[in-house]
Amino acid sequence: MNRKWVGSFLIIVLLVFGGWMFFNSPFSTSKQALPAEVKTDGTSILDIGNQKAEERPVKTFSLTAQEKEWRINADKQVEAWTYNGTVPGKPLRVTEGDFVKVHLKNELSVPVTIHWHGMILPNQMDGVPGLTQDAVQPGESFTYEFIANDAGTYWYHSHQHSSKQVDKGLYGSLIIEEKDPAYQKEQIFMLDEWAVDQEKQSLTNMGGMMMGSMSGDGEADTKQMYDTLTVNGKSGNAIEPLQMEAGETARLRFINAGYQQHRLVFPEGSMEVIAADGEKVVTDGTSSNMLEIAPGERIDVAFTRQGEETEVIGEDPTTEYDRGMKIPVVSEKEADSFSYDQLSISSAASQETGTSNGSEELLFKETPESDVTYHMDLSMGMDMGEGMSFQINNKVFPDTPLIPVSEGDVVKVRITNSGRLNHPMHLHGHRFQVASKDGQAYENPIVKDLIHVKPGEEYTVYFKADNKGEWLFHCHDNNHADRGMVTIVDYQGVYSPFKLDGEHSNQP
Ligand code: C2O
Ligand code: CU
Repeated sequence: MNRKWVGSFLIIVLLVFGGWMFFNSPFSTSKQALPAEVKTDGTSILDIGNQKAEERPVKTFSLTAQEKEWRINADKQVEAWTYNGTVPGKPLRVTEGDFVKVHLKNELSVPVTIHWHGMILPNQMDGVPGLTQDAVQPGESFTYEFIANDAGTYWYHSHQHSSKQVDKGLYGSLIIEEKDPAYQKEQIFMLDEWAVDQEKQSLTNMGGMMMGSMSGDGEADTKQMYDTLTVNGKSGNAIEPLQMEAGETARLRFINAGYQQHRLVFPEGSMEVIAADGEKVVTDGTSSNMLEIAPGERIDVAFTRQGEETEVIGEDPTTEYDRGMKIPVVSEKEADSFSYDQLSISSAASQETGTSNGSEELLFKETPESDVTYHMDLSMGMDMGEGMSFQINNKVFPDTPLIPVSEGDVVKVRITNSGRLNHPMHLHGHRFQVASKDGQAYENPIVKDLIHVKPGEEYTVYFKADNKGEWLFHCHDNNHADRGMVTIVDYQGVYSPFKLDGEHSNQP
């Protein structure tokens, strides 16, 4: 055999193995395999839980999935996939207690769905292809119906091939307003990242490459993948300024629709977190000027404009180079005269993010006894040919071990991250109470549907199995989910009549 060839082969083997070793301590194996054995006993998820409007006010919307050239700013344009031609899709606003009907029409050349992120709704309305419905084929339609029960900030996005479809713009916000809103003024900010100046890089080749350039904040992959940051679909000086007068207070709803965590810095003393993942948090009067928001997460803050001078809310310059995420805060008369380039973000005065005050309403007053216990270990592997894989208990979906529950169970999930990247883990159809971090019980637990688990961290969460169905629990960096980091909360006595792949190309 040719010596040179053997030499380069060895180097490649070393690089790949090195990359793999770098991300994982324990040895693990993985293989993408056939869809999991699906049980077919009991009741179909189509026969449980559907809701009727009855006396409720009905709010009806139409969303059409369509292609659109989307202008991110004066010199950046992308081929986007959109709901109704804009990125984000139009905000859907309803009032708590309303009955919501959304007609989805698919005018794209690929199948799509809509998932209602954070909503507690009937399983068959959850929008997960292959699990709760068949993907909606080109030219076809589907109607989603549910009761908008809890006021708060939610969002919607396609759950078909999400790593691509959400990336290309198939998302928008869903706001459930309180009957009696606490703030007169409010604004939604959906954050995202795009690969505009470069091809989006694939995780297939990143393993070896990332060894040299690991930034250590658990975001190395996304930082390499994307070059442009957007707020409501716009970047840099195309971002719509927030118009407020000095002393005025508004509710700002932040939704991270991207796959990278963002750390937004506010003027000092101007911001207080009031809700996380749609749940009100206890406000203790202390204020941080830094807001960390994980992929998929929603955080609402009360923001007060401090003075007469133009202000800015923007990505922390100490952890991020400038990729265009700055929101100008201007008064009405400054609106046309301020200069975007002169907005300078102060560095964070505090590393505290203000999201750990605990929730106003808890699911459990005290740490409960659990009926089901599941240890979810998150890790990373390398597959020859496939590149990186992202594993739950050393397996990639659909081979990951399910979380089997019976209705009424209290479920305890201990989540550990033994890899080197961040994993925002999101549970569909339920909320969980985060009881402890790294073995330390929280004095004030927080109720959420997404927990950002960073390398080396361990969280224990509890939830009540009170919404029958088949529900995903997965990493909301959908590039990771796409490569395996997904499992299912599987209720006994129900089954999904849908299949992964197959003629509908269902790809959750
Ligand atoms: Cu935003 Cu599976 O969810
Ligand atoms: Cu992840």
